[in-house]
This record gives sequence, C-alpha cells and structure tokens, in this order.
Amino acid sequence: DAADKGGWSSFMAKEINEQPEAIANTVRGRTAGRSVEIPELTALGDDRLRNIDRIIIIACGTASYAGQIGAYAIEQWARIPVDVQLSHEFRYRDPVLTDRTMVISVSQSGETMDTLMAVKYAIEQGVTTVSVCNTQSATIPRESDAAVYTHAGPEVAVASTKAFTAQITALFLIGLHLGRVRGELSTEALAEAVQQLEELPEKMRVAVDTHAEITQLAHWMADTRSVLFLGRHVGFPAALEGALKLKEIAYIHAEGFAAGELKHGPIALIDHGQPVFVLVPSPRTAPLMHSKVVSNIQEIRARGARVIAIVEVGDTAVLPYADEVIRLPLTDALFEPILQVVPLQWFALELSTAKGLDVDQPRNLAKSVTVE
Ligand code: G6P
Repeated sequence: DAADKGGWSSFMAKEINEQPEAIANTVRGRTAGRSVEIPELTALGDDRLRNIDRIIIIACGTASYAGQIGAYAIEQWARIPVDVQLSHEFRYRDPVLTDRTMVISVSQSGETMDTLMAVKYAIEQGVTTVSVCNTQSATIPRESDAAVYTHAGPEVAVASTKAFTAQITALFLIGLHLGRVRGELSTEALAEAVQQLEELPEKMRVAVDTHAEITQLAHWMADTRSVLFLGRHVGFPAALEGALKLKEIAYIHAEGFAAGELKHGPIALIDHGQPVFVLVPSPRTAPLMHSKVVSNIQEIRARGARVIAIVEVGDTAVLPYADEVIRLPLTDALFEPILQVVPLQWFALELSTAKGLDVDQPRNLAKSVTVE
C-alpha cells in the first residue's frame, strides 16, 4: 500500500529515489585507507585470485548490462580479460573453462533459474565462482565459492533500478580488489577510484533530482512509438539498459546502439522527429570519445533526429545540436553510466505513467524468473 511506498506513487519511484543509499551501503565496509578490500574475496586466498587468467560474467536482463559495464572496469583495473555472456547461452557454447577461470554471476534475486543453471555448470567444470547478489542467502550465492552482496535493500518493482546501480558498484569494487591483489593498480589510481566511489551517493542524489525535468520531457513525448539510445564504451550498455526499461514498463519499441555502429546500419532508422537519447562521455576525462559522440549527434541531427543529450555539467559542445540537455555531476568516465541511467529510469517510469500503465507490475514479466 501507499505506506510501503514511502509516499511515492510506485515502488519503482521509491526505489529509484533510494539509489544514493543503495550505493553507499554497497560501498560501506569495503573501502578503508584509500584502498578496497572485500573480505569474501580475501577468503578465497590471494594466490587463487592472482592465478585467475580469465573472467566470465553471466547474468540475464538488467543484471547482464551491469555485467557489461563492470567488465570494462575489471579489465581496466585488474588487467584480466573479461567476457560477458547471457546465462541461458553460456553452457550451450561449450565454453572454454579451466581452473584459472573465474565466473562471476550477477543476479538481484539470486534465484533466476537460467543463471543458477549456468553457475551449477561452472561449478561442475571446477572454476572459481563469485556471486554478486542482492538477496541474502539466496540459492546462487549459497552455491558459489564467494558471495559479494549488494546492499540495495529489497527491490519490489519488477523493473530493476537500485539493484542495477548497486551491481555496477559491486563489480567496480571487485575490479579494484583484484587490481590491488594482482599489483596492477598504483596507490594513486586506487585512491582516486575509492574517492569516486565515496562521492557517488551525493552525485546520485543530483541524478535522482532530474525527475522534474524528465517528467516534462515524458509529458510531451507520451505518444512516442519508438525511442533510440546511443552510447559509447560504458555508455553502450547503459544505452541498452535505457531501452530495456522502456520496453519493460512503457511497452514502447526501443533500441540501444553503440554510437560508432550507427553508420554501419542503424542510421537508416533516423527520420524526422525520431527521439534519440545520447549518453555523452565526459569531455574532461574522455575527450576523444566525447568528440566522437558529438560528431554522432551532428550526424543524426542532420537527418532530423530529436536529440536528448545526457551530459556532464559544463559540457557546452553539444548545446548547438541538442533539443534537450540533461546535466549530471562531474565524475570519471568509467563511473558515468551509474548516473546516466537514472534519468533513463525516470523516463521509462514517466512514460509508463503517462500511458496509464502499471509501473510496478508490467504485463508478461516476473520479478524473478524461476524457470529455464
Ligand atoms: C527478470 C526481471 C528483470 C531482471 C532479470 C534478472 O527478467 O524481469 O528485471 O533483470 O529477471 O533477474 P535477477 O534477479 O537474476 O537479477
């Protein structure tokens, strides 16, 4: 009832709003002295962690996009090759697994049957299994060698929001822990990343406060039949997540693309008035990617797209080409998707609301899918 929703109109709205605390709780107890230590990984033994030569992240749905974002961070900080595979595809490809492979599963519920079966398969092959999970003592973390819990609190709405940003945060912590143990991270780089993590909750609050602007945007877009999302690097999985949210709860056709892939096909979709959200990387910390994405915006604008640019505050390069600009706090490029996804969550919620749909209980979907 309304009391459970804390005064919000839906659980999803409440859960979007809870993201600053969800992230703070996921980081808490895992950073100290400008370093990162996850006790559950320490318990595996540092030699075992140093011996890992490949990581495969397995997950479904929103959790798989958290996995894709986490993969960039783990590769950057720990210098271990990371693949991301959908749980239900994993074993059918006869994956190359050795005793030096680590499989990290990502699951809010810890009960998704596709992911559980993939974890069981990995265990049979003798690999090290780590579970990133939001539900204490769920089946997947119990079966795994180590459980790194996200502490987002119970998530009720079918569409995942706070669990998603907490999953990315947990995967970043894992990347920093592995990078430290394996000697791949300088003290300065580690301290800088820890500071970014610790500042995230406050920045997240600013991202949550985009709600009013997004509500207006959703209002005039209520009849939209198709929305595209573009991103580059970590912005690409964030774009995929923005599109998934819109499909899940507003039943609107949506697709996410890697911005660089546009010219290889999807640009043919752009015609007059096509709304396109573009996740613009930070010009300070990712200048090359930034300029490429600005060119992508010019290309689609020239073909009639209606551009909604999500930028870091102070980025004026996009202003001449964007119809709408949503501004987010400054953060390192790797951390940006954690903030960028928040206006996209609000957008899906507000379009769903504008269409009179049940935001928390979309048709045909279940919170946790316990069949294969
Ligand atoms: C279902 C839900 C999705 C969720 C996915 C994975 O399909 O509708 O929102 O992302 O399962 O769930 P999990 O609990 O494994 O994260």
